[in-house]
Amino acid sequence: MQHKILIVDDDVAVRTSLELLLRKAGYVCEVAAAPQEALNSIRSGKINAALLDMNYALETSGEEGLELLQKIKILHPLLPVILISGWGSIELAVQGMRLGAFSFVSKPWNNQSLLSTLQAALALSQPDDTPDPGRKELNSRFDLDSIVGDSPRLVKLLQTLGRIASNDAPVLVTGESGTGKELVAEAIHHNSHRKKGAFVKVNLGGISSSLFESEMFGHRKGAFTDAYTDRVGRFELARGGTIFLDEIAELDPACQVKLLRVLQEKTYEVLGDSTPQQSDVRVICATNRNLRQMVEKGLFREDLFYRINVISLELPPLRERPGDIPLLARHFALQLTRGQQLPTVHFSSEVLKWLKGLPFPGNIRELKNLIERVILVSGKQSLAIDDFTEQYQGAPLSAHANPLDSPGMLTLEQMEKLMIEKAIKAFNNNIAKVARSLGLSRGALYRRMDKYNIPYESES
Ligand SMILES: Nc1ncnc2c1ncn2[C@@H]1O[C@H](COP(=O)(O)OP(=O)(O)OP(=O)(O)O)[C@@H](O)[C@H]1O
Ligand SMILES: [Mg+2]
Repeated sequence: MQHKILIVDDDVAVRTSLELLLRKAGYVCEVAAAPQEALNSIRSGKINAALLDMNYALETSGEEGLELLQKIKILHPLLPVILISGWGSIELAVQGMRLGAFSFVSKPWNNQSLLSTLQAALALSQPDDTPDPGRKELNSRFDLDSIVGDSPRLVKLLQTLGRIASNDAPVLVTGESGTGKELVAEAIHHNSHRKKGAFVKVNLGGISSSLFESEMFGHRKGAFTDAYTDRVGRFELARGGTIFLDEIAELDPACQVKLLRVLQEKTYEVLGDSTPQQSDVRVICATNRNLRQMVEKGLFREDLFYRINVISLELPPLRERPGDIPLLARHFALQLTRGQQLPTVHFSSEVLKWLKGLPFPGNIRELKNLIERVILVSGKQSLAIDDFTEQYQGAPLSAHANPLDSPGMLTLEQMEKLMIEKAIKAFNNNIAKVARSLGLSRGALYRRMDKYNIPYESES
């Protein structure tokens, strides 16, 4: 089926060039120069998506664009609307997002990113007539071998993954620690046209704000005091592939605006070199925090949030898909025994039932560690509940746990929280000292305290 796209712009040159671009990409177009015309087209009911310019020649405030968007949303609430706005009017685009626009692209637009946004909008808004594929069908269509599970929520996520993998629109993967966010990001890459390119992972929690630009965009020799040699940035390493920005919530405000600029304009500059470089990457971000809440609290830029969140995939915690536990347990057992050339291991049905009842705060990572430890420690081929209870001492969240307890007792996050609490006690709430002792900036420390709900008390 050919999709019909409505282009709304009062500038004939913009209308023509957008129309040309979309026709070449195989879409049918309808154009409108004014709001009334646009609404008439939408009333016809044949439009699949709309591109809406926010900057009208007469009304530069953009009010007219927002008003039109609201009317469109009343007439056709599910129609995906993509806003086109200049960098200078990104605030307008943000207001449009709050009113229900699907996404926004900046002017002058980048053809490729406009087309990917449109593809994503259509893929997510127009389910085709065929029934949703089940897990088997998905396996035959896509490369999803690494992701085990057939619970309805996981299958739903994989259906979306399949629909959006092939375009280039940004994806935000959310979910608790250990739920498989990185695995999902890799699967998107492997199922995209970028699979021959690199998958470059960047842990933003580990990059200090002073080094952010040099890490991400690279630098030339002599660009700053310590720049003894040229450095290739991560965006360059990921050229033609995918960049995975993990722990995106850890980015401080100054870096947030730098990242926003690249995502918006699709160009960046290497430090010490003023030639703009085209960015040719797909961006996938991940976080285990509630970014929307962070936006509400003013801790994360709203415009950046909408920019990275064109497509969102939320991984359910393991305790909400216990049906996947037996499959995962067998998978991890097989992976280990094959890798170490050990005899195959069996789980009794009581064991599987017992495992399904565990809370698993560390999610799939915790389950994996538990299975591996039990197999290695027990040395048995047939595992009973007793073999597990010895390793699963219960209360892994206990504040008294030794942070360097055996693997599986604590997730990295729990350990991080404990260490911060210990340091605060040890340094009598002197935040500067606490931060220094943990090798963090004060800002990074505050963000983590906020993340783990550690109350802030002034020095005692
Ligand atoms: N559905 C799955 N099938 C098989 N293995 C999985 C699945 N989900 C996660 N895993 C495994 O569990 C472990 C944790 O997954 P991953 O690193 O992707 O989690 P994460 O959500 O990125 O965690 P964090 O927030 O701590 O970074 C990895 O070893 C991964 O291979
Ligand atoms: Mg991860």
